[in-house]
Amino acid sequence: MMMTLPSGHISSSAKDIVMAGEDFHRPGEASWSVDEIRYHEIERDRIKEDTQLLYLLTSASFIEITSDLYTRNLVEFFGEDRETVQWLGECWEPEELQHGAALKRYVQAAWPDFDWDGAYQSFFSEYARTCSMEALEPKRALELAARCVVETGTSSFYTMLAEIDREPVLTQLAARIRADEVRHYKHFYRYFLKYCERERPSRIAVLKTLLKRAAEVQSEDALIAFKHVHLMRNPGAAFQRSDYDSYRDSVRQIAKYHFPKEMAVKMMLKPLGVGAMAGRIAVPMAMSLCSLFLG
Ligand SMILES: [Fe+2]
Ligand SMILES: [Fe+2]
Repeated sequence: MMMTLPSGHISSSAKDIVMAGEDFHRPGEASWSVDEIRYHEIERDRIKEDTQLLYLLTSASFIEITSDLYTRNLVEFFGEDRETVQWLGECWEPEELQHGAALKRYVQAAWPDFDWDGAYQSFFSEYARTCSMEALEPKRALELAARCVVETGTSSFYTMLAEIDREPVLTQLAARIRADEVRHYKHFYRYFLKYCERERPSRIAVLKTLLKRAAEVQSEDALIAFKHVHLMRNPGAAFQRSDYDSYRDSVRQIAKYHFPKEMAVKMMLKPLGVGAMAGRIAVPMAMSLCSLFLG
């Protein structure tokens, strides 16, 4: 029997159903849209003094929202491979951009006094100058292994962000982004297997690529992002490297307890196609990946 609710008294689950029926724009294969996030329900009192979180989220938003800078040469690299190129352009890039947009809106809603646009502008002018396009691997299979490394890093980061559970709207958002990142990993891994059949890279070549990419991830990106958030928050003050170092140490403390080691190790080992090998190698690799955002 259908239950009729008096008008003006829609239960929250009924409201969810009504909301779910709305025609939100969900990019690519994402199961969510930035417009569905309930930014107005953010419990600001819980996080308004949480500077560490402001830095973490703003840095992540800067890097995600700039994804289009490095999508183009990847698309070129896969040239005539329509399946991969189509997925990169129609799913991967718009989903990464949505991650950036969703985090940006969160930062703006949670810390309205922080000038995100101003900080991003100065971040971008330095980042675009110093950002040498990622050197692609000599073979497609190896480049795809490297992409698996990057997606392992982002999947782990958002898992950790959901796990620390600082604020409910953020926890939900982090879980949604995490699901996208894990799916990205699965796509790249599937394409990796396809190219392994054709190119037959040696296991050593794959291992070298994974290690190299993990090391590269410890780049200047996080430092540049931190610097521009810091300068925006402290106008006129000179930026000290020690500010960044103490922030990084504080984030490492969280990672010690909340970084999803087991998941990261599993994802990292998969392209090597071995179970027993390199658990010892993979853990520090995976930890260093996380530093893309953690610094
Ligand atoms: Fe992302
Ligand atoms: Fe991703």
